[in-house]
Amino acid sequence: MERTLVILKPCTIQRGLIGEIISRFEKKGLCLVGMKMVWLTDEILSEHYAHLKEKPFFQRIKDAMSVCPVIVCCWEGVDAIQVVRLMAGTTNGRNAQPGTIRGDYSMSVQENIVHASDSPETAAIELKRFFVDSELFSYKRNDLLSIYANDEF
Ligand code: TYD
Repeated sequence: MERTLVILKPCTIQRGLIGEIISRFEKKGLCLVGMKMVWLTDEILSEHYAHLKEKPFFQRIKDAMSVCPVIVCCWEGVDAIQVVRLMAGTTNGRNAQPGTIRGDYSMSVQENIVHASDSPETAAIELKRFFVDSELFSYKRNDLLSIYANDEF
């Protein structure tokens, strides 16, 4: 099983879409193993978006990510990192495929509903950035055999 970080961005909180977005991951069959509301600081956002620090929109996205608290969550499942990225859709909501989260709820590159880790290496780093070990839980879902074949997990 893999674990991945999802952040429900301020636009999602402001638009009252928290339940709808979490519901998508639940219905897909992913398992929620950690979740909390947190108001992100410029410091943690500088670290999180360090790969974009030379871009002209660096400060703009950090400001947008701190207009109100966000929800950080950890979802677990087979190939969870790729599954969640596919569910999120491409960065620009206007180009994202209908049926994806960004394709269905976003008209923007910046206000694009969720952040999702993009690789196993990034997921491990990002989960450590936003959670301490005791905030992530290990438990067995009773419905695993309805979600996967017995040799898939
Ligand atoms: P990035 O890591 O490239 O995309 P993704 O979130 O799909 O992994 O960019 C991080 C965030 O930065 C992105 O979700 C929205 C914002 N952003 C802009 O505002 N303008 C841009 O041109 C890009 C590429 C990203």
